[in-house]
Amino acid sequence: MQTVPSAGPKLARVPVRNPYSALPNWLYPALVAVTLTAFALYSAWVVFGNSGGRFGPYLSPFYSPEITLRLGGFLVPPALWVAWAPLAFRATCYYYRKAYFRSFFWHPRSCAVPEPRSHGSNYRGETGFWALNNLHRFALYAITVQMAFLWFDALAQFYYQGAFRVGLGSLLMIVNVVCLSGYTFGCHALRHLAGGRSDCFSCSRVRFRLWKGVTVLNVRHDRWAWVSLFTVLGTDLYIRLLVLGVLPHAPWA
Ligand code: FES
Repeated sequence: MQTVPSAGPKLARVPVRNPYSALPNWLYPALVAVTLTAFALYSAWVVFGNSGGRFGPYLSPFYSPEITLRLGGFLVPPALWVAWAPLAFRATCYYYRKAYFRSFFWHPRSCAVPEPRSHGSNYRGETGFWALNNLHRFALYAITVQMAFLWFDALAQFYYQGAFRVGLGSLLMIVNVVCLSGYTFGCHALRHLAGGRSDCFSCSRVRFRLWKGVTVLNVRHDRWAWVSLFTVLGTDLYIRLLVLGVLPHAPWA
C-alpha cells in the first residue's frame, strides 16, 4: 500500500490552552495527585497503624460500624472491616475515575487534547483490569448500609452518660455525615437507578421525584466528592488527636 503524502500545510504543534482557566494546565492534575496520594497514605496509617477510633461518644468514620474480632489471638485491624467500602466506592466513582486517569496517568489527558507522545494513541477505555470499575453500583449498595451506621453514630453521640452533650466532635461528625450524604446520594449510579432503565422515567411520580432529588446533588458531584473527603479526614484527625492525648478535652460533666 502506498502512503499518500499530505497535501495540506504542516500543522505546527501549539501549546494546549485551557479555555476555562488562566491557571497552568498542570496545576489541577498535580493537586489531584498530591491530595489523593496524601489521603491514601493517611488512610493506610489509620487502618493498619491504629486499633481504634473512639473517644467518649465520638467515633471516627473509619470505624463505623465498630467491629472487634481476634483471629488466632491477633486483633484484625477494626478499620479494615469498614475501609474497603469507601475505598471501592471512591475508586470506582465516575468523577474520581476521570480525575485519577487524567492526573496520575495523563491517559486520556483530556477531551480533544492529544496524548503525550510516550502514550502513543493506545487508549482503549476502561477495558481489562479497569472493567472492574463497572462494579460501582455494588459499591453503592455497600456504602448505603454504611451511611446508616454513620448517621446513627452522628446522632447517638449527642446522648452520652445519661445526658445530652455537644462538643466540637459532635459538630464535626454531623458536618461529615451531611457531606458524605451529599456525595453518596448524588451518585450517578443512584441517579440511574432512580430514573434509568425506563422509556418514561417521569411516568412514575415517586421515581421522578427521586431522580430530581438525586440530580440536585449530582450537579455538584465533584465538589461533594472533595468536601466529603476532607470532612472524613478532619473528623478522624480531631478524634485521633483526642485519643492520643495531643488535644485536651474537658471531662464530660
Ligand atoms: S458516581 Fe461518584 S459516587 Fe457514584
